[in-house]
Amino acid sequence: MDKIVIEGGVPLRGEVQVSGAKNAALPAMAASLLAEGDHAVANVPDLADVRTMGRLLAHMGCEVVRGAGDDRHVVSLRVPRSVIPEAPYELVKTMRASVLVLGPLVARWGRARVSLPGGCAIGARPIDQHLKALSALGAEIALEHGYVEARAPSGRLQGGSFVFDVNTVTGTENVMMAAVLAEGRTVLGNCACEPEVADLARALREMGASIEGEGTTEIRIDGVERLRPLYHRVIPDRIEAGTLLVAGALAGGDVLVRGCLAEHMEGLLEKLRAAGATLEAVPAGLRVIGDGRPRPVDFRTAPFPGFATDMQAQMMVLLAVADGSSVVTETVFENRFMHVQELLRLGADITTDGKTALVKGVTELSGAPVMASDLRASAALVLAGLLAKGSTEVLRVYHLDRGYERLEDKLAPLGARIRRMKA
Ligand code: EPZ
Repeated sequence: MDKIVIEGGVPLRGEVQVSGAKNAALPAMAASLLAEGDHAVANVPDLADVRTMGRLLAHMGCEVVRGAGDDRHVVSLRVPRSVIPEAPYELVKTMRASVLVLGPLVARWGRARVSLPGGCAIGARPIDQHLKALSALGAEIALEHGYVEARAPSGRLQGGSFVFDVNTVTGTENVMMAAVLAEGRTVLGNCACEPEVADLARALREMGASIEGEGTTEIRIDGVERLRPLYHRVIPDRIEAGTLLVAGALAGGDVLVRGCLAEHMEGLLEKLRAAGATLEAVPAGLRVIGDGRPRPVDFRTAPFPGFATDMQAQMMVLLAVADGSSVVTETVFENRFMHVQELLRLGADITTDGKTALVKGVTELSGAPVMASDLRASAALVLAGLLAKGSTEVLRVYHLDRGYERLEDKLAPLGARIRRMKA
């Protein structure tokens, strides 16, 4: 098992390229199930969750190959006429996004067997909305032996209307993928507006789907009988970009994050500015300059275009050394403050009460061994290590590797004293 060791206290300077979005690549790969033939998804980051999705598709009978050299971010998928329409527990338990195959499977083959994901470190994360919406499209759903068994009784789903009770990203994506091959029109209300949902809609349109309204709360889909294989380039990763921007904003940094899209990150950018960072949009991306001690800022997480829950832990690190107190409210997941206990070990002064955390800025953090609990929490601990005086060891780096393509290789050229070692 690897650990990341950081000697902190060095402001970061230079340029870094953002990778493709994990959370756009995963649904695009799942969408390939919707058509027989040879597909290609470009700008796919090389990270553990993408490999898990590749294993899942291979388990079903697809061929999944990542390119080499200049093509290392292109994943080619060959989808056969028939597959084993099943997502086994062994894979779903390592990655909840495996549930994204449910919609495509039942849409194309009229049946699917997908393990229920179970609990998660950041919250309960049920998939009731996915299932209710699929029922509205005529799927019969049964829960047996820990698996969701979904069936389209006539072999094909029927268009229908559904309004989501909660804003769900993968729920919206799953049902969009189900509806594109359904018979007739589907209207989905209270949809997630995240850029990754809109990117999937574009990918589906490239396959021949008739879909409109993505990026708004109402998505309308006219089902078609057949789709063609996908060639799609996924959007830049706004969460990796945000993590790098926070890294640049720490203690006097000056970093250009190449390739990121400001319009995907307004919620974060507004709070970074309020904290005193200077942000400059340039044609290549976004430049951040961290000048002096951050100012305290209150923020609450919310669905897009609000402040992304996936950036909450990283932003908290910046506020941990602010000149005053900030209140952070997590509204999306019920248990997403696991990083707080670890930040306390580095000398932060944070108290939590339910959904809120009171972050009293301290003048400096001091390095210590810390334990990663989930993906974004581990990114936050790396940021804290960059800031802390002395040496910080981040253990359980496999959490980080699920969603970042070797974060240390992006930070080291910026001057960070960071290396990966065997724990
Ligand atoms: C997606 O998860 C992302 N994952 C998450 O990224 C992200 O944190 C989350 O959206 C919120 O932005 C992928 O895109 C693969 P939700 P998802 O369904 O779709 C409740 C990361 O670090 N809910 O939008 O699983 C749920 O419990 C990850 O990259 C229901 O109640 O999240 C939560 O409170 C972690 N019933 C809220 O909705 C449902 O059927 C939002 O969850 C579905 C969700």
